[in-house]
Amino acid sequence: MKKRNIFHIVLFSGLLMFGISSCSESRELDLIPMPRSVEHHRGTFELSPETRFYTQLSPESKQALAHYLEGTALGRISFADEATGTKGIELTLCDTTLVPDAEGYRLEIDKKGVRLSASTEAGLFYGVQTLLQLLNNGDGKSLPAVTIDDSPRFPYRGLHLDVSRHFFDKEFVKKQLDAMAYFKLNRFHWHLTDGAGWRIEIKKYPRLTSFAAWRPFEILNEWWTGGRTYCDQNDPRAVGGYYTQDDIREVVAYAAERHITIIPEIEMPGHSEEVLATYPELSCSGKPYVNADFCVGTEKTFEFLENVLLEVIDLFPSEYIHIGGDEAAKNSWRQCPRCQKRMADENLASVEELQSYMIHRIERFLNEHGRKIIGWDEIIEGGLTPTATVMSWRGEEGGIQAVKAGNQTIMTPGKYCYLDAYQDAPNTQPMSIGGYLTLEKAYSFEPVPDSLTTEEASLIQGLQGNVWTEYIPTPEHAEYMIYPRILALAETGWSPAEAKDWESFHARALHAVNYLRNQGYNPFPLDKEVGDKPESLRPVEHLALNKTVTYATPYSKQYAAQGDQSLVDGVRGGWMYNDDRWQGFLNSDIDVTVDLGSETAIREVNAEFLQLKGPYVWLPKQVIISASTDGENYETLATVGNDISPEVETLQFKTFGWEGNTTARYVRYQAQSNGIDGGWLFTDEIIIR
Ligand code: ACM
Repeated sequence: MKKRNIFHIVLFSGLLMFGISSCSESRELDLIPMPRSVEHHRGTFELSPETRFYTQLSPESKQALAHYLEGTALGRISFADEATGTKGIELTLCDTTLVPDAEGYRLEIDKKGVRLSASTEAGLFYGVQTLLQLLNNGDGKSLPAVTIDDSPRFPYRGLHLDVSRHFFDKEFVKKQLDAMAYFKLNRFHWHLTDGAGWRIEIKKYPRLTSFAAWRPFEILNEWWTGGRTYCDQNDPRAVGGYYTQDDIREVVAYAAERHITIIPEIEMPGHSEEVLATYPELSCSGKPYVNADFCVGTEKTFEFLENVLLEVIDLFPSEYIHIGGDEAAKNSWRQCPRCQKRMADENLASVEELQSYMIHRIERFLNEHGRKIIGWDEIIEGGLTPTATVMSWRGEEGGIQAVKAGNQTIMTPGKYCYLDAYQDAPNTQPMSIGGYLTLEKAYSFEPVPDSLTTEEASLIQGLQGNVWTEYIPTPEHAEYMIYPRILALAETGWSPAEAKDWESFHARALHAVNYLRNQGYNPFPLDKEVGDKPESLRPVEHLALNKTVTYATPYSKQYAAQGDQSLVDGVRGGWMYNDDRWQGFLNSDIDVTVDLGSETAIREVNAEFLQLKGPYVWLPKQVIISASTDGENYETLATVGNDISPEVETLQFKTFGWEGNTTARYVRYQAQSNGIDGGWLFTDEIIIR
């Protein structure tokens, strides 16, 4: 693909030397996201020193656009006061009959000039991004003659950033907003609060930023194992940071100039250790460093959250405020007399309903102040109100449930949208939280599940890439995880589903990575991608293929892979345990027997396991392989020990097997767990030859 483009450029400039304009109907524009409709014409428009912008936009909008364009490929073009006739770039606010979509635009380029029309300034802005990409991906001055009619598939195209686990300063955020705008993303979900640090100045509660924003450890893992305490800002060990309210206003304005809405997230009721260490009266125990969830029984919690939200509302014009809602343990509520009294007073049957009581109450408060809520999909559990938007992260199920209940949803399932997962062979990558999400896999995401009706599908607002930063301590590392995968989601969020084409996208993403690098970003080097685990790329042939497996120990429903046939289906696992190819066993040995159907000469039995310390995935302590002709009496063929310690931090693979000569109908494979509570064993195939 890349070669074809280079060929075209060479051919194209050759023709220009002879004064012949070229038209290649098949030439694909080097744009991300790909526009809805492109019509190619003959020739090009050449930017020259005489080229001027002409627009009837208000003086303020004109000035804002000129300011935005400074330093870009269109930065040297000045605005003429009158229509230029020819050789101009004309920006027109048209009516919605020509461009109905609020973010859409029509771009007409011919030899005489450029006409960009949109019914909103946002539409004009996205047309300008298309112009910028055409120039940046070309020679910087020639624009191909085309007519583009473009508009996004979804209204919500987001990037999330967790600034609690590691703090990223406002300049970093602004830099990412620049890239977001360039790729037509329009929502920045700012995860401002979490147990690892509070990051937004709240005037009424100064200890949130003089204490809860700082921790006495540089390395998050050391903080985690070292007591998870906070410290004063002026403590010499203090690591962390926060945004002042002026910083927030500056970033919000910067985003608005780029037609990006910032959605702030204030976490509740869980992930709130930093608040409860600072204001322990808001927790069930009343003591610091005991609870993670706000006490829902005390009115003080509501007073605090409402006061915080009042300041948040003042800072963020967004219609939506994200109130978290994920992963609350809810355990303290079961013992807390105040929470129990609340449940009795409000007729709440479960702690899930108690969580909903809190979410609904906060939602009412925000509604009264003209705002709506977004929450992680746990907010469904105790019942939804009609105006809540659900962010579906634990798969797509939450989103499906939400739209079936008539609620809007934003799709951000971990499997496709969590940009903290490994993006290439893990042992070639910086340590990550786990998971495996290649660019191709991210690109394969379809946000609208097949099972939905048209009406339900219309409630899917879009999608979002999430950057959780437990393992991402630096700005360079964050960019490495964001780019280019967010581009795959940007195209999925904007381009029509039927226009998506992986080969084409991959070629354009390679160019985009170069562009980003030249702009001072640190994208993953896509041209050096190693790719999937070689064994996983093709089926393996062996004697046990499609034979019967009897499980003396059950596999986990959560990691069933393809069920009872998984270990003999010829399909090998990839780099990560959660790819539906590895079968998982929780707190258990593996004891399985393969029936070959008849007595068979065998010379090899093996199975591979993986180990990843973070999620408690371990290699077996030892493996016993035995064989039998009658299924009653087994002869041990091999007992194989493990020489890899569970302390090893990096991903490990190890094959445990036997080689020899015997005849058997039944082969029993037993893998002994190392006994660590909550630990997993994962294997993908019992290979018999
Ligand atoms: C989440 O990843 N806990 C929303």
